[in-house]
Amino acid sequence: MLETYQNILENLKEQTHFRDIKDFAAKDEKYIYYNGKKLINLSSNNYLGFADNKEITEEFLRHCDVYSFGSASARLLTGTLPVYNELEFLLCDMFKKNGALLFNSGYHANVGINSSLAERGDVIFSDKLNHASIIDGMRLSEGKFFRYPHNNMDALEKLLIRERKNFKNAVIVSESVFSMDGDVADIEKLVELKEKYNCILVLDEAHAFGVFGKKALGVTETLDITDKVDLIVGTFGKAIGSVGAFAVGNEILIDYLTNKARSFIFSTSLPPINIAFTKWIIENKLPTTFEKRQKMLSIGKQAGSDSHIVPVIIGGNKEAVDSCEILFQNGYFTLPIRPPTVPEGTSRLRLSLTTEITEKELNNAISLVK
Ligand SMILES: Cc1ncc(COP(=O)(O)O)c(C=O)c1O
Repeated sequence: MLETYQNILENLKEQTHFRDIKDFAAKDEKYIYYNGKKLINLSSNNYLGFADNKEITEEFLRHCDVYSFGSASARLLTGTLPVYNELEFLLCDMFKKNGALLFNSGYHANVGINSSLAERGDVIFSDKLNHASIIDGMRLSEGKFFRYPHNNMDALEKLLIRERKNFKNAVIVSESVFSMDGDVADIEKLVELKEKYNCILVLDEAHAFGVFGKKALGVTETLDITDKVDLIVGTFGKAIGSVGAFAVGNEILIDYLTNKARSFIFSTSLPPINIAFTKWIIENKLPTTFEKRQKMLSIGKQAGSDSHIVPVIIGGNKEAVDSCEILFQNGYFTLPIRPPTVPEGTSRLRLSLTTEITEKELNNAISLVK
């Protein structure tokens, strides 16, 4: 039987789809140390440099009481402590919502939310480029789902006109900053459509929370429509430099998720020390980052993106792999993004900025492969 799997792996190798885990020696806020080289990391989600930062880690450990490294249980059993509730209160306060729920990761959040919000007889409308965790959640749902062409609001409305009447509850789900393309959803139009067709709007701000907006809440803050989105999802593993995720929204939806989202119910909660670190970063470090974040976004804009994620479309798989090698030889680290993560023929380099990377460094990297 192993032969079948072996053949599948050989096939992946032939199509340059094979993935392996790289052996990094070390990393910090800007560089990655790999194969004896010090490389500028253009593949990081550590947008503000809070992860892999020795001084920040030491400062946190100096100022915080002792929290343990294991929670030993799901939160509905005995895996919760005041610090979890304090972080949820903090998020409610920041977003001006009356409910918040922590998840172990963005993957857990999206799987739990999308699998539970639509039950039999319900429907989900999802952007075609939404993250795998949203797709997996919809696949686990007993409801039906439709995927509309990326950011195409006319196509979504046509779908709503045709299908909304056939279902009881309806959910529209989209990322705000798309993880692979770096473009931003038309959130105002999504709000208009969700109101017109009586749907719940779920917005995944994984790459925008901690980056967009004066208070770093995400794109909804910059548009001043945080109150119009039913559920906002954010992750702590990217800009916050920690681990975990959250959903904020109306307390009815949050109570519903607490009772129905299986990825929340049946998984041991994150260690208290990680929850405390997340809360400490949000309270103590995030508030002073506005100017740096604006600068990072303006560098992304100059490179033609809506955000700090700059896609460089190469086309073929092999060409994308070769482009990474060119960058590697010139002191940059990035990985090729290939199907099924992105559509066939659009293999690319996904260059992600951090507040440490300069305009000159980015432009130089792009000119090497374009
Ligand atoms: C849009 C989006 N949502 C969710 C996730 C998953 O988040 P996590 O890494 O916390 O599981 C990712 C991860 O890359 C993402 O890009």
